[in-house]
Amino acid sequence: MKVGRTVVSAEEIDAKLAEMGARITEDYRGKDVLMVGILKGAFMVMADLARHVDLPVEFDFMAVSSYGYATQTSGVVRILKDLDREIAGRHVLIVEDIVDSGLTLNYLIKNLRVRQPASLELAALLLKDGLQRVTLDVRYIGFEIPPDFVVGYGLDFEEKYRNLPFVAVMEEE
Ligand code: IMP
Repeated sequence: MKVGRTVVSAEEIDAKLAEMGARITEDYRGKDVLMVGILKGAFMVMADLARHVDLPVEFDFMAVSSYGYATQTSGVVRILKDLDREIAGRHVLIVEDIVDSGLTLNYLIKNLRVRQPASLELAALLLKDGLQRVTLDVRYIGFEIPPDFVVGYGLDFEEKYRNLPFVAVMEEE
């Protein structure tokens, strides 16, 4: 497998995150927002999106297992690292790299709702078209992309290519 054509360029990502950050800044004005990044994939979106949010944001991270070494979702979500702090009464914004089947976020939302946050919303850089198996209300979406397996900007193929500054499809050699 190799990195193929670019789906979203670095410039497009930056412009979109600026827009999303401005909307988040407006929507959460006067509130204490806790941005929760889902590791490992969301580390890059989190860092770049947060720099466009003009509020006193706090951060936390969760790590969940997703695909492992396969390119298809198993539907099984395992929490590898939970949040450091309680979220009761907090305005929580989950930040994710990509929503594919929606199973990961669906599980996380249910898990976090039980902890009684004041609000719980989702931001995802990428949403794969047509493949959602679970209906999710993603409040902030960057780009809708075709259902190909993509890498870059936090997304991996066998743990590689997360550092690419753009999003590209994986192709056969
Ligand atoms: P979902 O549960 O099917 O929505 O999958 C969500 C997780 O699977 C994401 O957070 C990614 O870690 C991973 N994932 C889904 N699609 C891709 C892809 O095209 N490339 C790399 N990772 C992906």
